[in-house]
Amino acid sequence: MSVNRPRIVRSVRLPQPVEDRIASAFDAPPVPETPLSTDEVFRLAAERKAEGLLVTHHAAIRGADVARIPDSVRIVATVSVGLDHLDVKAILDRGIAVTNTPDVLTDCNADLAMMLIIAAARRVKAYTEIMRNGWGHTLAMDELLGVRVSGKTLGIIGMGRIGQAVAKRAKGFDMKVLYHNRRRLDPQDEHGATWFADLRDMLPHCQILSLHLPGNPESASLINAETLALLPKGAVFVNAARGVLVDEDALIAALDSGHLFGAGLDVCRNEPNPDPRLLAEPNVFMTPHVGSATIETRTAMGMLALDNVLARVENRPLLTPVTA
Ligand code: DGY
Repeated sequence: MSVNRPRIVRSVRLPQPVEDRIASAFDAPPVPETPLSTDEVFRLAAERKAEGLLVTHHAAIRGADVARIPDSVRIVATVSVGLDHLDVKAILDRGIAVTNTPDVLTDCNADLAMMLIIAAARRVKAYTEIMRNGWGHTLAMDELLGVRVSGKTLGIIGMGRIGQAVAKRAKGFDMKVLYHNRRRLDPQDEHGATWFADLRDMLPHCQILSLHLPGNPESASLINAETLALLPKGAVFVNAARGVLVDEDALIAALDSGHLFGAGLDVCRNEPNPDPRLLAEPNVFMTPHVGSATIETRTAMGMLALDNVLARVENRPLLTPVTA
């Protein structure tokens, strides 16, 4: 253990350039083979008197966990933009700084949302299945048809950085974009999208609906039987935000009844063990919570988390502080 290097514990293996930097400039336990639990992170942190914890949503620090953060810890740097796995106020109240990794992942998350929209609308799951089985028969002109994406009306719930990036991309598909957000954005941030103060007024117009808001007790099950029923028949639903936003029973019922054409989901409630009914839905295209999973973005996230740890131990201003 070096006395000069900042002592950190990371809950998960990070991209190689980040691991290389950790090896050369930080004092850290060996690279975790599998994501560590909160208990394992705390045990290592106590053992090594760690100053910084790098965690993701696999290692939640909530409720009674907060009191168990070892006293040596001065910063919890989550390698995510989402904060739902952290009890931020309680951690800050202990005098421990909290940082996240906004901005660097905006574009990749928005790219993934567009991919989910297209995948669900264009039946990528069914086509992939056909190709996996060797193709072998010519599809009839009316067989397994998708729905057109270009020119559709897209509703975005949550017009933060990622929602805005999706709106920008949707313009390239000649979509009409609507959004619901607590407050109306400045016109330059709207990217031509139309604000709806009331979600219920927006939903009947959304041929495609995409969620880009944080998951928390207030937003839990925002998408439920009632809100889904307001969507037009044949709508496509996309969630690249948080699973808790959706009542999955209601989502499955809306798919089974044909009210929804399909769904694209990067997140679900019981990660990493999705409801098997969702996996079995013929037109639910799912990815395993990989909104930020590109070489460039995950590297930038890891580097930003390390920069925040360094700033904290050197008593400099944090780059991306989280406030309560
Ligand atoms: C994020 O950055 O919040 C991603 O969803 C990973 O948790």
